[in-house]
Amino acid sequence: MSHQWWRQAAIYQVYPRSFADADGDGIGDLAGVRARLGHLRDLGIDAIWFSPWYPSPMADAGYDVADYRDIDPTFGTLDEARELITEAHQLGIRSIVDVVPNHCSDQHEWFKEALGARPGDPVRDRFWFRTGRGPLPPNDWQSTFGGPAWTQVPDGEWYLHLFAPEQPDFNWDNPEVRSEFEDILRFWFDLGVDGIRIDSAAMCVKDPELGEIREGEPHPYVDRDGTHEIYRAWRRIAEEYAEPRALIGEVWLADAERFARYLRPDEMHTAFNFDFLGCPWDAKALRKVIDDTLASHAVVGAPSTWVLSNHDVTRHVTRYGRADTAFDFALRGARHGRPTDLALGTRRARAAALLTTSLPGSVYVYQGEELGLPEVEDLSDEVRDDPMYTRSGGADPGRDGCRVPLPWSADLTGPSWLPQPPSWAALSVAAQQDHPGSMLTLYRAALAGRRALAGPMTWLEAPADVLAFARPGGFVCVINLSAAAVPLPPHEQVLLSSGSLAEGQLPPDTAVWLRTIDSPA
Ligand code: GLC
Repeated sequence: MSHQWWRQAAIYQVYPRSFADADGDGIGDLAGVRARLGHLRDLGIDAIWFSPWYPSPMADAGYDVADYRDIDPTFGTLDEARELITEAHQLGIRSIVDVVPNHCSDQHEWFKEALGARPGDPVRDRFWFRTGRGPLPPNDWQSTFGGPAWTQVPDGEWYLHLFAPEQPDFNWDNPEVRSEFEDILRFWFDLGVDGIRIDSAAMCVKDPELGEIREGEPHPYVDRDGTHEIYRAWRRIAEEYAEPRALIGEVWLADAERFARYLRPDEMHTAFNFDFLGCPWDAKALRKVIDDTLASHAVVGAPSTWVLSNHDVTRHVTRYGRADTAFDFALRGARHGRPTDLALGTRRARAAALLTTSLPGSVYVYQGEELGLPEVEDLSDEVRDDPMYTRSGGADPGRDGCRVPLPWSADLTGPSWLPQPPSWAALSVAAQQDHPGSMLTLYRAALAGRRALAGPMTWLEAPADVLAFARPGGFVCVINLSAAAVPLPPHEQVLLSSGSLAEGQLPPDTAVWLRTIDSPA
């Protein structure tokens, strides 16, 4: 089943700018990743997902791609990427690249060509150029980053950008766009990558009439029925390889049934579980998300994924240390800087690590999660770089706080494109490396331990606000989300615990893996 590795893989997200800096300019690079592959091997992951590493003006931290077939010089060269992929393979680690199909950079050759052409020229048809309504843009769509989704060019036409103005949206009704991306996929697959992460995957296809968003009607640019044909074509390409490449979608959709349609056997292999990511630290809510996830994925035969953090959301150590533990983009500004009990958040994050790594399916680890890094909430305005911050006029703090470079050693005096808080010295890899009680040690043990797990999960009876489930072979995971310690169920052995267990009791916000007396199957 090695060709179905994506069904149970542990995938580590590398955000290249902030992972490891080898040349000392304060920005991460591929040489840095290569130098730290040992960290990832020791952590016990199966694959790395690289956030965009392409040439980019970095208007949206690389999600504005100027050339889909090269590496940004800040990060290194294509040869280095090739070597990195090979070296990772030698350690048994697969590579996943981030493909951004909804939009490119305004510095992409195609967009520059479109700007240089006249209205009506076919090269403009690769994007969404339209005339306005008098002085107004063609419609009232808003950019995800704030402000209108249209920008006017000197000849009077407007172009669509669902994100920043530097990120013009491609027109997926244009066959050239389709064949270009199919070729980009082949380029990376031929180079040896094992899969792709598909950015903003449900947004590519637009209503050609550019209709407004109306309750009860298909959304004009999210989850249009026509989107599926794109990924069916990509799946066919992925299947052309001796070891089929994996397609992993970034699909933010509230409707579980619509979400699961992307995971039908001839479309993507897996997609990120944002319902789980956003779920509050609450036993009933978590159980419901887990049940709903398993049920909706079972219908299409796809494995579920378990995700706690990524480069777009408030780090979960911080979220779990607040009164409101859920993640919600709309509320992020309001919650930013709220009182946070980081000790509590860390305790819960440790318990959550045992939960996510023992559920059936694949699991994602966002760089720094294995160190228990909190969100950096006190970045100064001058260093903030995220368009979400600038375009919201500061109302949304943006995503820089989860993108601060990783602390490798306790000496944090070197350059860093976002400053590392002094408190991170104690959270550095060097500080945690050989420490039995550290988050890093816990992640290593959990990722090693999960390799023995296979088969479905079954809920077990448990006290109120305690979750307990079994996996075949006598494995039990218990997570105490209640306010009081509870007795451990009968067991033969404690395999791993996220906190200390006093006198056979599982304290609040603590999880444990047990080996039980299992009836032989
Ligand atoms: C995705 C990425 C995010 C980016 C956006 C636009 O949501 O994860 O970082 O800003 O797409 O590309």
